Amino acid sequence: MKTEGGSDAAKRRAGERAAEEVEDGFVVGLGTGSTTAYAIRAIGRAVDDGLEVRGIPTSFQSRQLALEVGIPVTSLDAADGVDLAIDGADQVVDDPEAAGYGALIKGGGAAHTREKLVDSTADRFVVVADPSKLAPALERSVPVEVVPDAHTVVADRIRDLGGEPSLRDATRKDGPVVTDNGNLVLDCAFGSIDDPDALATVLSGLPGVLEHGLFVGLADATYVGRENGVDVRT
Ligand code: 5RP
Repeated sequence: MKTEGGSDAAKRRAGERAAEEVEDGFVVGLGTGSTTAYAIRAIGRAVDDGLEVRGIPTSFQSRQLALEVGIPVTSLDAADGVDLAIDGADQVVDDPEAAGYGALIKGGGAAHTREKLVDSTADRFVVVADPSKLAPALERSVPVEVVPDAHTVVADRIRDLGGEPSLRDATRKDGPVVTDNGNLVLDCAFGSIDDPDALATVLSGLPGVLEHGLFVGLADATYVGRENGVDVRT
């Protein structure tokens, strides 16, 4: 079993620091992943202490955790906006001189479609990360959620764009990963992405693509957990 090493301690610091921003009466977007889970648990403890909030989960996983720790859950159509979204990232552009400073790759948990919906709706979107997520440019594979019938067609379009698509396989059963929305995920390697905004626009325009994991211009701040505290990047 994974113990709390340096990386987990950093995730915890980032998540718990972001949870401190939750105020009484807030509707909070609850992201997906191990870093956000620390924030969700911290919000749950605050609810135990009397804080009144409602959470909008971005995945089955975050909904289960929210219910487990006692956060009342709601949905985008039932709530009047989202005050704050807290979410993790797989990679964050950390170079202020780079074109895509603050851009993210998300979707390591195949939840990026709902995450983008909730995070982009929020008045404030805070990313929580450990230092391993920071990079001068985005170079990890970009998760692209596709409707099942479209996966080969979209894969061809990705190759035309110079990318290398790979259908994400489930690790615990035969067959591909199926998202909470019933779709498939192509992990698309493009090498180092010089212009995340331009690639995001092209990917969004491909028929059969529901959503991709490039989040450009959405984050208001990134909280990076460190050995002795949290760096706030804006
Ligand atoms: C899920 C995500 C996660 O936020 C991302 O994969 C980071 O996860 P972790 O905090 O476990 O490193 O985008 O779709």
